[in-house]
Amino acid sequence: MRALRYDRYGSPDALKIEDVPEPTPRAGQAKVRVHAASLNPLDWKIRAGHMRFVPMFRPPPRGSGSDFAGEIVAVGGGATARHVGERVFGSIIPFGRDGAIADFVVVDYERISPIEDGVDFAQASTLPVAGGTAMQGLVDETRVSVGQRVLITGAAGGVGHFAVQIAKHLDAYVVAVCGSGNIDFVRALGADEVVDYTKDDFTRRDERFDVVFDAAGASSFIASRGLLNEAGSYINTGGDTAAFVTTAVGGVVARFTSRQRAIAIVLRNAATNWARLMPLVRSGVVKPHTARTIAMDEATEAYRSMETGHARGKIVVRVA
Ligand SMILES: NC(=O)c1ccc[n+]([C@@H]2O[C@H](COP(=O)([O-])OP(=O)(O)OC[C@H]3O[C@@H](n4cnc5c(N)ncnc54)[C@H](OP(=O)(O)O)[C@@H]3O)[C@@H](O)[C@H]2O)c1
Repeated sequence: MRALRYDRYGSPDALKIEDVPEPTPRAGQAKVRVHAASLNPLDWKIRAGHMRFVPMFRPPPRGSGSDFAGEIVAVGGGATARHVGERVFGSIIPFGRDGAIADFVVVDYERISPIEDGVDFAQASTLPVAGGTAMQGLVDETRVSVGQRVLITGAAGGVGHFAVQIAKHLDAYVVAVCGSGNIDFVRALGADEVVDYTKDDFTRRDERFDVVFDAAGASSFIASRGLLNEAGSYINTGGDTAAFVTTAVGGVVARFTSRQRAIAIVLRNAATNWARLMPLVRSGVVKPHTARTIAMDEATEAYRSMETGHARGKIVVRVA
């Protein structure tokens, strides 16, 4: 089968399509024929070596990509509601050497979720990491509710464009932060106000929020603290290790000095959140934005563009 892989840490030039043996599912796993995969910043951060000192992450040779959508072609045994022929989407665990941008993946049952009728593979492939992170941040971590005020940075990006739509679905008042070129896009997602970060420093706004969802890692708990109401929460998606550590330290400070919270998000309960997202996509409440659909051999250039840090929505790889 074809698989997008690399055998050294480095730039997108390290990527190449290889012919590798098809994987075989073990007990508790399904084998999925991948129809579509989507790109996430995590893919390139692993490839660039940003995780090389994190013990769980295996070094190259590795496959690229984690999010996929496709059809189950085999199950490896063990109790499961999943079955051959079922359309599913999910995300492989990023620690290992497999990648989702391949003709087939094997994946644990709990890391896939059914695709509802009316949702296509490309749409479903955009959801796992980006949509799952937005859902976890706004529902599980902060329980955003009607009328609450939510500020979202990186509002045009993979995580942010889902977060704006989910926050509006929860009937929050949303202030979205993005660059000049994305203002109309973010307004169309439903944001109540849009702040152009190239012109205004959102941390100096004279108002308070229940949640600051820093999907761009554009700030920090300390810098955003003045924006939070007395029980407000700051969420950082942990764009890099420094942001993660700073936010975790901020969380300890917040706990001992206030009712505020600082949360360095780590994606978990993934399938639960995917199952919550799917009906929202099927009903059109959440519309994944696909900026580009590419073939596997266009991935090098697509990653290069994503690595500029100014993505709009998602890039989907058409695999099958
Ligand atoms: N911890 C986790 O489990 C987890 C999960 C998912 C993602 N992440 C991380 O979260 C980050 C965002 O992921 P993503 O998929 O949304 O990335 P993305 O699709 O590349 O989007 C990043 C967005 O940030 C915006 N941006 C850049 N600088 C900004 C600034 N100063 N203020 C406001 N917005 C700014 C860019 O838009 P403009 O063109 O408008 O600047 C772009 O739309 C990445 O670092 C990713 O690795 C972590």
